[in-house]
Amino acid sequence: MQGEAEGAAPWSAADYASLLGAEGTVFLVAQDAILERLGGFILGRAIAGEMEILNLAVAPSYRRQGLARRLVAAALARGQAQGAVHCWLEVRESNGVARAFYRALGFVERGRRPRYYRDPVEDAVMYERSVLAAGPAP
Ligand SMILES: CC(C)(COP(=O)(O)OP(=O)(O)OC[C@H]1O[C@@H](n2cnc3c(N)ncnc32)[C@H](O)[C@@H]1OP(=O)(O)O)[C@@H](O)C(=O)NCCC(=O)NCCS
Repeated sequence: MQGEAEGAAPWSAADYASLLGAEGTVFLVAQDAILERLGGFILGRAIAGEMEILNLAVAPSYRRQGLARRLVAAALARGQAQGAVHCWLEVRESNGVARAFYRALGFVERGRRPRYYRDPVEDAVMYERSVLAAGPAP
């Protein structure tokens, strides 16, 4: 699925395995029950009142059907249950689709990390939203 989702963070199986056992990890998958295919997934972590979305991807044939919106909502609900108040994430500057997606969900741009990504080198744009409210944090 990762190979189908340009824009998602290029994590290895070992990267996922190390987080799956870690405190506060939220990992949700959406599976097509009829075709038995993975439609999408979200990986996040909630620690000390803060939540971070670490990776999110929806397979191309399942996009624009509200799947990622539902994955984020479900992840935020779990983060809230673990005491998170704010949710943060980083996106490549050139990933216009993901940036439009997060803006549509009420995330607000909060800064940049210059040259944060490699292959190719690119700035990260940081977004933040309240976990509690349906809209952006004050
Ligand atoms: C970003 C991504 C996860 C969105 O998944 P999705 O399931 O298609 O998103 P949704 O259907 O839930 O979209 C919700 C809203 O986001 C916005 N949005 C989603 N895709 C968009 C696009 N291609 N262009 C503009 N806005 C878009 C829209 O406002 C949309 O609501 P609408 O369809 O009612 O107009 C998906 O495109 C993807 O997997 N991209 C590759 C991986 C990636 O970039 N991940 C993010 C890394 S942090």
